[in-house]
Amino acid sequence: MSQAQALFERFISDVHAVWAAEPDMGERMAQTKPLFEKLVRDPAMQAESDSWPSTEGHKNLLFHTDETYGFIVNAVVREPNRKGSVHDHSTAWVLYGLLAGHESLERYDRVDDGSKPDYAEVKLTGVTNGGPGNVDLVPPYAIHAEQGGTGRSVALIFRSQRLVGKVMQHGYDLQNKTIISRWGPTQIPYTFGQAA
Ligand SMILES: [Fe+2]
Repeated sequence: MSQAQALFERFISDVHAVWAAEPDMGERMAQTKPLFEKLVRDPAMQAESDSWPSTEGHKNLLFHTDETYGFIVNAVVREPNRKGSVHDHSTAWVLYGLLAGHESLERYDRVDDGSKPDYAEVKLTGVTNGGPGNVDLVPPYAIHAEQGGTGRSVALIFRSQRLVGKVMQHGYDLQNKTIISRWGPTQIPYTFGQAA
């Protein structure tokens, strides 16, 4: 077993211990964050991500679907200067951790009252720049966009629940002020040490 695989399995068993002891999802995710930070800051994990293939074309690598708690672990591998769309993750909590490269996370607020169907006005409220080891916790329905940097970037993503095929997520068209309901990225099952 590779070092990265061993670290990952240790992470999953640590998450199980946290989730078994804590029923509240927000608390579970807050307590999972330092475990996830430790994982994405590990040099063996960061080196492992060098060989992962691009996920351009709205794809995610899928490393783990949890049989007990239903959380999933994905990765996204962005090509340089990737423009991210503005979206939310519906009911899921998400930990987004960079393994390689730099990205910026834009946060938006909804400013209309939500009374018109498929209509939304959103406003940029902040941007944080992240590099390897940086982890963001994104709550349910938080509107945001991940923007690529000048080089390749790789993020590991921990989602509190699987949405793809189950729950629609939302994209926000800033120009036309419309909401686009959509399914999430295509899931590509992937294992550590798998050739690109
Ligand atoms: Fe996102």
